[in-house]
Amino acid sequence: QELKLSLEQIEKGGYEHFMLKEIFEQPKSIHDTMRGRLLLDEGIIKMAGIWDHLERFKNANRIIIIACGTSWHAGLIGEYLIEEYARIPVEVEYASEFRYRNPIITDKDVVIAISQSGETADTMAALKLAKERGAFIYGICNVVDSSIARITDAGSYTHAGPEIGVASTKAFTAQLTILTLIAFKLGKHNGNLGNAEFMSLIAELDALPKKIEEVLSTTHELTQNIAKDFINTTNFLYLGRGYNYPAALEGALKLKEISYIHAEGYPAAEMKHGPIALIDENMPIVIIAPKKGHYDKIVSNVQEIKARKGKVIAVVNKGDKQVSAMADYVIEIPETSECFSPIVASVPLQLLAYYIAVYRGANVDQPRNLAKSVTVE
Ligand code: G6P
Repeated sequence: QELKLSLEQIEKGGYEHFMLKEIFEQPKSIHDTMRGRLLLDEGIIKMAGIWDHLERFKNANRIIIIACGTSWHAGLIGEYLIEEYARIPVEVEYASEFRYRNPIITDKDVVIAISQSGETADTMAALKLAKERGAFIYGICNVVDSSIARITDAGSYTHAGPEIGVASTKAFTAQLTILTLIAFKLGKHNGNLGNAEFMSLIAELDALPKKIEEVLSTTHELTQNIAKDFINTTNFLYLGRGYNYPAALEGALKLKEISYIHAEGYPAAEMKHGPIALIDENMPIVIIAPKKGHYDKIVSNVQEIKARKGKVIAVVNKGDKQVSAMADYVIEIPETSECFSPIVASVPLQLLAYYIAVYRGANVDQPRNLAKSVTVE
């Protein structure tokens, strides 16, 4: 028993939980996921899985992304990325819904499955169905040689390393890294992404691990302090727009998974169609409001929240004035192109969820009722 405990301590590398260790590993896991793929000096993205099947992608009627849980949130961001940069229509669907609704799939479709474990039963079943109907199937998995990795026609592994915490963190940002690479590569090859923009985007992508390091060091203590004020909260709202709408969903999911606080993510503009009715002085609202990406619209959302006395925790860019002046808590992150902001913004939200859960005494690595890999329906 003692030996087992100390081995676990070693595995945790000095962190109290695997989840915290994995949050802190993100500069490395993102870097490892890009390594050998993003060749900045040569100005290329090398991905054999895409290159070998470029025609399938270029001629695709559409790309359908299927996944569950956090991986599904990555898929939603993938939709924004691929549609913006490669101009290929994308649909994102929960694997469980896809498999049971007799979807229309043809041999002109490309189906991308995203799965950390590569073993999720619903995702696997959805892929089998897509394959039977002639679609080209592509996998984004973290576990090498997993069932999904084996059944797909081609794929790209995320190189996040083993993820032990049930709530996904580093696998999520690694999935976003792969989706970004795919979107840029397809856009470059189908002529929708010009060379100058491509070069500046990949330079920014290359610099992302450094920015994540910065975010970890500037927000670690801060999120810990903010968390202390929300230990007894029963509800949370997370809002974002554009690329950061799925980031809001993911922020809310992290909190509910490990702290058991009810949390909902919403596209900020949809607030007026429901959630606004819930806002009073007891409702904390996490709002993701970077400069690039509908900032002015977010400013008015924050005004609406403050008029109803909601408590605003704002994730903003360094030096932000307008939203920060109204917010009760401010978390600053470095400025990036809009498409990278969900990666950067997710990090303090992971930390916030982690510390709220820790202060509530919850078992963050093994939350009740949840499994790391869901191999049953
Ligand atoms: C479970 C895990 C989540 C994960 C989801 C999908 O619910 O607890 O963290 O996002 O399954 O798993 P996958 O391995 O397919 O990404």
